[in-house]
Amino acid sequence: MRKFTSVKDVPDVLSLSDEALALKNAPFSQEGLGKHKTLGLIFMNPSLRTRISSQKAATSLGMEVMVLNVDKEGWALEFREGAIMNGTTVEHVKDAAAAMGRYCDIIGIRCFPGLQNREEDYAEIILNQFIRYAGVPVISLESATLHPLQSLADLITIRETWKESGRKPKVVLTWAPHIKALPQAVANSFAEWMLAAGMDLSITHPPGMELKEDFTRGARIIHHQDEALQDADFIYVKNWSSYQDYGHTLHQPEWMLTEEKLRHSSLGKIMHCLPVRRNVELSDELLDSARSLVISQADNRIWAAQVVLKKMLDNL
Ligand code: CP
Repeated sequence: MRKFTSVKDVPDVLSLSDEALALKNAPFSQEGLGKHKTLGLIFMNPSLRTRISSQKAATSLGMEVMVLNVDKEGWALEFREGAIMNGTTVEHVKDAAAAMGRYCDIIGIRCFPGLQNREEDYAEIILNQFIRYAGVPVISLESATLHPLQSLADLITIRETWKESGRKPKVVLTWAPHIKALPQAVANSFAEWMLAAGMDLSITHPPGMELKEDFTRGARIIHHQDEALQDADFIYVKNWSSYQDYGHTLHQPEWMLTEEKLRHSSLGKIMHCLPVRRNVELSDELLDSARSLVISQADNRIWAAQVVLKKMLDNL
C-alpha cells in the first residue's frame, strides 16, 4: 500500500478489518517490522485520538515517530504552483514535503478544509501535494473531505460488536446539531466505508444537509429522523456542514440524540468519532450508558492505524 486516503486505496475492507482485529489480539506480533523506520506525523490542525493512536501503533511495530505541529511549529506553507512568495507564506510544500520524505519512511498528514471554497477543498490540494512531493507512502490523518482511519476503526467496532450471523446490521448515520460549521469528512468517509463493507446504511439529516452523492450512492436518505432510527442496530451521530450551501450550518437543536427519542424505536448501539459536544450533539445519558461504543471506537483507532502501517511497511 503506497497511500491510504480513502476506501478506494483498500482492495478488501472486510479482510483489512479482520487483519486489524488479529493485531488487536496480538499487538506485538510484528514488533520487528518497523525497526529503523520512521513515521512522520504532520498536523495542520488539532488532534487527540489520531495523534496518540498513530504513535502507539507505530511504536508497537518497532518504528520511531516524529511529530510536527505545522500550525504552531512549522513555517507557513505555500501550496500555489508558481507563487511569488512575497507574502505571509515562508516555504513551498514542494520543498517541505520533499525534505520530510528524506527524514521519514512513511508520512501521515492532517489537513482540514477551509470550508470557504468547495472546489478547492474537494480537490484535496494539500494532501495531494504531499503525496506528489514526499516520495514516500502517505496516510491521511483526516483530509479536507475524508477520514479513512476513523472509518476503518468504526468498521472494526461494528464487526466486533455485531454477533448475529443471520442478517446484516441496520446502520444509521444521523446528523447532529453543533455550535459551529464542521467538515463533511467523517460523514463522507463513514458512508463510503459502510457501503463498501456491504452494510444496510440509512442517512438522516435535515433538508439541505445532503452529502456529496459520490459518497452516499446506495444508502437510503431519510429526512425524518424518527423514521430512520426505527430498529437501528448502530446509530452514528455526527454533525457536518452543508455541501450544497457550502460550509453553512443549521440551528436545529431538536436533532440532538437522546434516550427519550429512542425509547420506542431502537435499542441500537451509539457511535461518535469524538470529540463530542455533550448535550448538544448527544445527551449525557446515552454517552454514559452501556449502549455507547465511543471509547471502543477510540481504542480501535490503534488497530486501524497499526494495520495500515503494517501494510505499508510490508511493501517498503
Ligand atoms: N476522531 C478523531 O479523529 O479524533 P481527533 O480529532 O482527536 O484525532
